[in-house]
Amino acid sequence: MLSVDLYSGEDALRRDREHVLRRTWQFMGHDSQIPAAGDYLADVIGGAPVVVVRKADGALAAFHNVCRHRAGALVTDGVGNCGEAFTCRYHGWRYALDGRLRNAVDFGAPAGFDPRDHGLFPVCVEVWRGLVFVNLDLEAAPLTALIVPLAVRWPDGQAGFPLTERRSHSIACNWKAYVENYLEGYHLPMVHPEFDADVVVSEYRTEVVDQVIFASAPPRDASVYGGLWGWLWPNLGVNVYRHGYMIERMTAVGPTETRLDYFYFFDPARTAELEAMLKVSDLVTAQDLQVCEEVQRNLEAGIYRGGVLSPKHENGVAWFQDRMGEALRVS
Ligand code: FES
Ligand SMILES: [Fe+2]
Repeated sequence: MLSVDLYSGEDALRRDREHVLRRTWQFMGHDSQIPAAGDYLADVIGGAPVVVVRKADGALAAFHNVCRHRAGALVTDGVGNCGEAFTCRYHGWRYALDGRLRNAVDFGAPAGFDPRDHGLFPVCVEVWRGLVFVNLDLEAAPLTALIVPLAVRWPDGQAGFPLTERRSHSIACNWKAYVENYLEGYHLPMVHPEFDADVVVSEYRTEVVDQVIFASAPPRDASVYGGLWGWLWPNLGVNVYRHGYMIERMTAVGPTETRLDYFYFFDPARTAELEAMLKVSDLVTAQDLQVCEEVQRNLEAGIYRGGVLSPKHENGVAWFQDRMGEALRVS
């Protein structure tokens, strides 16, 4: 088990960000959100503001959303268009979309100032089936090294569907407590009793393939689920439904605050099924929220110092904890 102390406190969050969240592929959004040159998508990844921009040649580039002058932001978080260049919101320095400093506006001419030394800090960006990922580690292994098992297991049928709906939820727990809940089906009969009407819960299985953890259960006839759930190390769910899919990003906002961002991609012809699926999804999230917040409260209460994992149901949790321990060098 991971030490209970790793589930709260600023120091634990700082270490998770430094050793895991800033060294792994993190989901930013969908490339259909930024179709034209100058379109950007800005968000906070591992505590660091990041911007992905569409260049004039159609390719994407990504940078830290921080100006080299005095750390101003280039753009506000969210989606927008910055035209042909980023213009810092603080004193107006202008950067080409490839990150070069084009004009330190009205700065004067101090000796030795070379604009080439003041380009934006780059970030790795890759796109898979329209899904945009960034990695703050410039030495990172390519995204394909992570995603191959999912690509194999998930034929691309649903991947062509448009981004239909976005929802966010905030949970008062450490991000790892939520991930661990996501990685096991042991809690389904207690926490989500309705699930069994949709899939055969007694046959729910969790399987680790490289850095992807799959869960599956045979769907029943009218199931909204496709019976396949994937999870990419360290914090992204890929929930495959019968008529679409949902990307679930689990962001550590604070030591004991996790934001879930759900991106639903759905068959446009299936509006009734979308409504049914959203209803189920909202219910499941509310149920998980309740147990995760109760667990967090107990992790911080001091009496519980560690437990045991079920070999039958919690192999995904065990893998995650081992991998976290390895990354943090505490196991
Ligand atoms: S901080 Fe960007 S121009 Fe000053
Ligand atoms: Fe759950």
